[in-house]
Amino acid sequence: MTKVKIGILASGRGSNAQAILDSIAAGVINGQVAVIISDNPTAQVLERAEKQQIPACCIERSAFSDKRRFEEALAAELERHGVQLVVLAGFMRLLSPHFISRFPRKIMNIHPSLLPAFPGLDAQGQAIRYGAKVSGCTVHFVDEGMDTGPVILQQAVAVASDDTPQNLSERILQVEHELYPRAVQLFCQGRLHCESRIVRIDAAKEEEK
Ligand code: GAR
Repeated sequence: MTKVKIGILASGRGSNAQAILDSIAAGVINGQVAVIISDNPTAQVLERAEKQQIPACCIERSAFSDKRRFEEALAAELERHGVQLVVLAGFMRLLSPHFISRFPRKIMNIHPSLLPAFPGLDAQGQAIRYGAKVSGCTVHFVDEGMDTGPVILQQAVAVASDDTPQNLSERILQVEHELYPRAVQLFCQGRLHCESRIVRIDAAKEEEK
């Protein structure tokens, strides 16, 4: 099977990007990270890319007069690397419908709550302030809304009565590092199918078990 070319967009630490790179190195994901792009020149994800000799670059929003030109530059870089799957890993920008239409059902995101609960910023803090007893994380395809796209995988994490946003985030992050590589692997195996907003997951073929 030919390897699926993955492009990662990330704004910060990049621990999810790292989990995906580790899973590829372990031979679990039939894919290759063709490029990592950050919108933040000091993002730790760029250091990770350099260490592992993954092509990487920074494309800053401030270098462009408007969002459309910024996104044109992102899309051009992804297309230049032949990217077939765009993985948002802590990319803290809302992408426009125009950008999304360039990669239909080929953009994934991870969000630190059980969507549709607690979309947007500080999902872990929102869960605590709401008094939720369970939160978790969601991998979904990206659509035009904010954290509204078709759900691929979710996993629950219990919220303790004395949790802070910090320690809940850490526990959810551990789960994210397993869930995101699994979703990317399913995509690379061609096992994800969208029927309107329902994502069907094909059973594993014999050789994939
Ligand atoms: C992760 O917790 C991810 O779920 C969250 O940002 C963090 C990035 O961490 N994403 C969002 O909140 C997107 N709405 P990382 O840079 O270490 O992967």
